[in-house]
Amino acid sequence: MADLSTQYMGLPLKNPLVASSSPLTESVDNIRRLEDMGIAAVVLPSLFEEQLTLESAVLDEDLWRGAEEFAEATTYLPDLSTYNTGPDGYLELIRRAKHSVAIPVIASLNGVTPSGWVRYAKHIEQAGADALELNIYTIATDPLRSGADLEEDCCELVHQVKTSVRIPVAVKLSPYYSSLTHMAKRLDHAGADALVLFNRFYQPDFDIEGLEVVPRLHLSHPEELLPRLHWVAIIFGHIKGNLAVTGGVHSALDVVKCVMAGASVAMMASAPLENGVRFIHRVHQDLEHWLEEHEYESMRQMLGSMSHRAVPDPAAFQRGNYMKVLSSYALRLR
Ligand SMILES: Cc1cc2nc3c(=O)[nH]c(=O)nc-3n(C[C@H](O)[C@H](O)[C@H](O)COP(=O)(O)O)c2cc1C
Repeated sequence: MADLSTQYMGLPLKNPLVASSSPLTESVDNIRRLEDMGIAAVVLPSLFEEQLTLESAVLDEDLWRGAEEFAEATTYLPDLSTYNTGPDGYLELIRRAKHSVAIPVIASLNGVTPSGWVRYAKHIEQAGADALELNIYTIATDPLRSGADLEEDCCELVHQVKTSVRIPVAVKLSPYYSSLTHMAKRLDHAGADALVLFNRFYQPDFDIEGLEVVPRLHLSHPEELLPRLHWVAIIFGHIKGNLAVTGGVHSALDVVKCVMAGASVAMMASAPLENGVRFIHRVHQDLEHWLEEHEYESMRQMLGSMSHRAVPDPAAFQRGNYMKVLSSYALRLR
């Protein structure tokens, strides 16, 4: 039987299948079922700093963007008091999950202010999480702040969190950077133990009768995997930390592609949400079969085998691929 084990941020995992942050990991029962089906680690739903602020009703003095702006922003928020069971419930979820399963439990935090990120990172560590994923989901709406400013803030934040906790810290990133490889290197220097590619953006739709924006969340499609695969293949070998794919992983073959690109783990949310938790068992079995059929002895053997590490001129390689894709289209006019 092939050895499926992998290492993620220093955590030994029995295979590369990780349940990413979603309502599936919101209950201990589901986390237990995911473990039974073969999941090797879980990422809990994100705790949002606004939940903490609403609960305490006291803003830190060192708020990043000023208390008034932040207070006004909270009026746009949905009722977050019960989302992900609220802040106290969240820490309790970590404790109970750790008590109930043997697989690593990774908490997820989405902050606003540096002090908020750091404070709750410490609470999360104390509650017993094995690692922390920083869910950096911000939309750059301020025309006075440059990309360089935002990148600097992000790296500074990672540095602050890393120097405040001892558990490994992953950063879940968006694909929207002018130079993603440069940003990946900077985050690596700031101390990130892993980069998770990529956050999905959930643009709300317009209700043109009610003149409102309405939330609309669609589960992912397998095609969403492609940009992740390519960026992981490009970044692999350039950073010390690990890489993880989230977005569009819907089968064992997708998991194989992620690992060949250079990801230590492949995360899934939409596939088990759509097909049920048992689907993980099937992916696990298919993965074992695939490795055996293709005479791989271990998952490690294929790590990064399709990455750009071995390509002497990656820019020319990408340009060649671009031309190949365009020319591969066969015109079929009726
Ligand atoms: C209903 C739902 C809730 C989610 N909640 C979170 C969250 O709280 N924090 C987070 O970082 N990602 C969250 N995600 C994003 C997933 O973790 C994942 O990155 C994304 O869905 C892409 O993976 P997939 O193609 O396997 O679904 C959520 C996704 C779904 C579908």
